[in-house]
Amino acid sequence: MLGYHALMADSVKGDIFGYLLGRGRDDKKLPVIHLTMVAACKNHHGSGVGPALMKDVFETVAAAADHIGACCLYLEAACEGLISYYEDWGFKRVSSKRLAMYMPIATVRDALTPADNDDFLDAASDEVA
Ligand SMILES: CC(C)(COP(=O)(O)OP(=O)(O)OC[C@H]1O[C@@H](n2cnc3c(N)ncnc32)[C@H](O)[C@@H]1OP(=O)(O)O)[C@@H](O)C(=O)NCCC(=O)NCCS
Repeated sequence: MLGYHALMADSVKGDIFGYLLGRGRDDKKLPVIHLTMVAACKNHHGSGVGPALMKDVFETVAAAADHIGACCLYLEAACEGLISYYEDWGFKRVSSKRLAMYMPIATVRDALTPADNDDFLDAASDEVA
């Protein structure tokens, strides 16, 4: 095994996400897809496994989001050092004091659009093929 990721249907407090996603403040919980883990085998770090895993995350989320009614892809970075890694993928931080990050479903789909993903997604698949 080169690596794995784990996704689950989850919900987050609606107030801050409602605001961030332009839905207005909402006290109710909002459905999200939670990326609970992405991990590459230690001796394969930096070799394209991470990007291939992220491409699979985006494809899975794009396919499942409408069924779940999810408004965003959500994660909690394991440490401050990983924030910029996820920002490079297009995730945004919920607030500077928290490690929670999100990506609207439309952004996930944009990342899978061929014109937009030449730099990382296609190359990522080729590298680990
Ligand atoms: C996250 C992961 C899949 C990325 O794999 P990858 O795409 O092959 O990328 P790399 O491992 O080369 O790391 C990418 C960048 O993230 C940084 N990074 C990775 N893990 C980090 C950590 N725990 N703390 C700080 N920075 C980290 C690397 O330094 C690297 O930065 P650089 O490009 O400036 O050198 C891989 O680092 C991993 O499996 N990490 C262990 C599990 C983990 O922490 N998962 C995230 C849980 S939120």
